[in-house]
Amino acid sequence: DDAHLITHALAKDTLSRLRDVETEQVAFRKGLVKLGRICGYEIIDGAMETEYVPVTTPLQETTGERVKGLDDVVIINVLRAATPFVEGLLKAFPRAKQGVISAGRDEAAGMTDDGEFPITIDYVKLPEIGPDDTVILADPMLATGSTMCAVLGHVLEEAGDFEDLFVLSAVSAPDGLVRVSDQVPEADLLTVAIDDRLDDDGFIVPGLGDAGDRAFR
Ligand code: PRP
Repeated sequence: DDAHLITHALAKDTLSRLRDVETEQVAFRKGLVKLGRICGYEIIDGAMETEYVPVTTPLQETTGERVKGLDDVVIINVLRAATPFVEGLLKAFPRAKQGVISAGRDEAAGMTDDGEFPITIDYVKLPEIGPDDTVILADPMLATGSTMCAVLGHVLEEAGDFEDLFVLSAVSAPDGLVRVSDQVPEADLLTVAIDDRLDDDGFIVPGLGDAGDRAFR
């Protein structure tokens, strides 16, 4: 059991539209934003606690609930496909601090025999991460997991203690989930779908194609 599935019906609905080859750029980008918002709500529902707070309605005083920890969230955007996905997450976590990491697979080098890609990291800018923070690393695609492992390496090196670590993707391949959970067992892996396999070029099958290209082309 390497990952937790996000099973909200709207998440599955939105992902299915993203998979569709007929979904063009604008609809694809909006779909990623929507999926990010739903995933954010699901993270709040599944992993964050609420506390009771006094509320005064126009009629009387009563007790309400408030989500704890919404001010202690760090969202890390793995460029570039995660950008619209993160825009959606920010609707669930409007006061999150943000980090940016530019990481790309060296496609020309090809997949190694162990099913990894060499990863080039060009830019890393992380906010200060504190002991109370919930850290969410977002990337719509987790294929071989090479990108996420490289990104996690940087984050864990820079960050001290923090509360929780989530790796959030829309579509994952089984190999990638295993690689990330082997290398970073403390990460909680969240994904909307676990697909069948990787093809010889390291693309998730059936997948949704190249999320970066489809959102930015
Ligand atoms: C894609 C995707 C992930 C990565 C997943 O990015 O957005 O970041 O590949 O593959 P992996 O799990 O095998 O490492 P890509 O390198 O195409 O860059 P882009 O997002 O800038 O298009």
